[in-house]
Amino acid sequence: MVAIGVLLSLMPCLQFGYGLTLTGDPSLTMDLTADAADNALVADWDITVVLYLQQDLEATVEYSGSSESTSIDDETLSATANDTSVMIITAGADVNLTDDTIVKHGYSTNLWEASFWGLNAAVNIQNTSISYITDINVTTHNGAANIYAYGSETVVHIDGAWLYSSGPAAHGLYASGNGTIIATGTATISDSTLYAGLLAGFVIFSSSERYSGASLSISSSTIDLLNEDIPALWFGNVIADATLDDVVITTESGILVVANYSQVTQEFDYYAGYSDNNALSPAEAYIIVSDSTLTGDLVAYNESLISWSLTDSSSWTGTAYSGYGTYYIGVSLDSTSTWTLTADTCVYNFTDTDTSVTNVKSGGYTLTYDKSSSANTWLDEKTVSLSGGGSLVPGTCN
Ligand SMILES: *[C@@H]1O[C@H](CO)[C@@H](O)[C@H](O)[C@H]1NC(C)=O
Ligand SMILES: *[C@@H]1O[C@H](CO)[C@@H](O)[C@H](O)[C@H]1NC(C)=O
Ligand SMILES: *[C@@H]1O[C@H](CO)[C@@H](O)[C@H](O)[C@H]1NC(C)=O
Ligand SMILES: *[C@@H]1O[C@H](CO)[C@@H](O)[C@H](O)[C@H]1NC(C)=O
Ligand SMILES: *[C@@H]1O[C@H](CO)[C@@H](O)[C@H](O)[C@H]1NC(C)=O
Ligand SMILES: *[C@@H]1O[C@H](CO)[C@@H](O)[C@H](O)[C@H]1NC(C)=O
Ligand SMILES: *[C@@H]1O[C@H](CO)[C@@H](O)[C@H](O)[C@H]1NC(C)=O
Ligand SMILES: *[C@@H]1O[C@H](CO)[C@@H](O)[C@H](O)[C@H]1NC(C)=O
Repeated sequence: MVAIGVLLSLMPCLQFGYGLTLTGDPSLTMDLTADAADNALVADWDITVVLYLQQDLEATVEYSGSSESTSIDDETLSATANDTSVMIITAGADVNLTDDTIVKHGYSTNLWEASFWGLNAAVNIQNTSISYITDINVTTHNGAANIYAYGSETVVHIDGAWLYSSGPAAHGLYASGNGTIIATGTATISDSTLYAGLLAGFVIFSSSERYSGASLSISSSTIDLLNEDIPALWFGNVIADATLDDVVITTESGILVVANYSQVTQEFDYYAGYSDNNALSPAEAYIIVSDSTLTGDLVAYNESLISWSLTDSSSWTGTAYSGYGTYYIGVSLDSTSTWTLTADTCVYNFTDTDTSVTNVKSGGYTLTYDKSSSANTWLDEKTVSLSGGGSLVPGTCN
């Protein structure tokens, strides 16, 4: 299972011109007191893990099969029964949603099925279906996910979403079983004290053996992470690609990216290790940043890898280090991008199309590149003076 979860309290607020005007942080405009009892419910994961769906997925409306090719505009749709989605789009259907309002009440009676197959998710898109969603307003209660994508070749493009959820284990966007979600727009992810167990802004992991192929693409978005412990992006037990284009990220933790020899438990309450899954492997995260100004650190654990490429007038302020054991972090800069160091830093790979490295602002710190990586042969084990008084030197990170 590869799960890409935007955890618990994703509350994007988006503003676009047409039918729906999606403004305002949902946590400010929704009546949170009315949902206090719902939020107080604790997710019940203490049930037998199911590895297959025990019933057909049900929905108020279902579009199934490649002959379904339609678009649904300006509608309000709802579901109130347990284990019932508002909408299922499956089996290769091509259904676009524009300016729709989706309202979901009702519980999932099996949280494993909810997590693995999107049982009870408000909008559940599955099995090679492709959907373009524009300006959608999804409110869910009783722990239902907002938008769920499942299965290889399932691709959900989201441009403008206003998502609110209450109840146990409610996720904003959730991709599982290799599903892909591509979100565009201004998303404000605000941590809410109503929810426990928020682990990161975006969590990309595999919960069996390590898979590759997960990808995350965020553009023109603002992500605010108000919890002091959580990184913006967390990768565990996967090989994954991410692109961040025109993105603003604010973290209280000061950590942008974690790659770990770990996975997230289905409760999303802690980072699990070998004792929970002895098929774990280190994570490899390949991240391309463009047109963004970012502040925060990169942290790799126990043989994990982070490749961090700054392109297209990006600037990054931060450092990179090991959380535990051996780490592999590569930083590459194009000549339009800059890196401002905030500590002495050792990277496994360092590449820069500005070969005199004038785009690294050292602040007096030392940037060490690992002599053992072939990516650094262009430096020929030279020491280079950096602006701000520090220098780029050969060395050994691990
Ligand atoms: C989204 O829909 C919910 C439920 O209908 C409503 O309460 C909320 O105001 C809507 N949000 C916006 C931004 O219109
Ligand atoms: C859905 O939107 C995409 C992108 O605009 C378009 O290529 C596709 O034809 C649309 N499909 C339907 C059924 O409207
Ligand atoms: C829906 O699920 C909730 C929580 O499990 C349960 O309390 C309620 O009785 C269920 N409703 C129906 C109609 O089965
Ligand atoms: C999608 O495929 C899975 C695996 O074959 C199946 O269990 C599930 O019921 C399918 N989803 C829908 C909505 O039919
Ligand atoms: C996800 O990808 C893995 C590896 O390619 C494959 O074995 C698995 O069947 C895929 N799962 C789904 C639900 O498509
Ligand atoms: C990293 O993974 C280990 C288990 O392998 C876990 O104990 C630790 O909490 C994780 N830390 C982070 C920040 O992911
Ligand atoms: C580190 O990885 C090794 C496997 O290489 C594993 O046995 C060990 O439990 C991991 N330790 C942590 C803290 O993740
Ligand atoms: C370092 O560069 C090598 C050679 O190009 C590459 O295989 C490896 O993935 C890179 N590692 C990191 C951490 O960027």
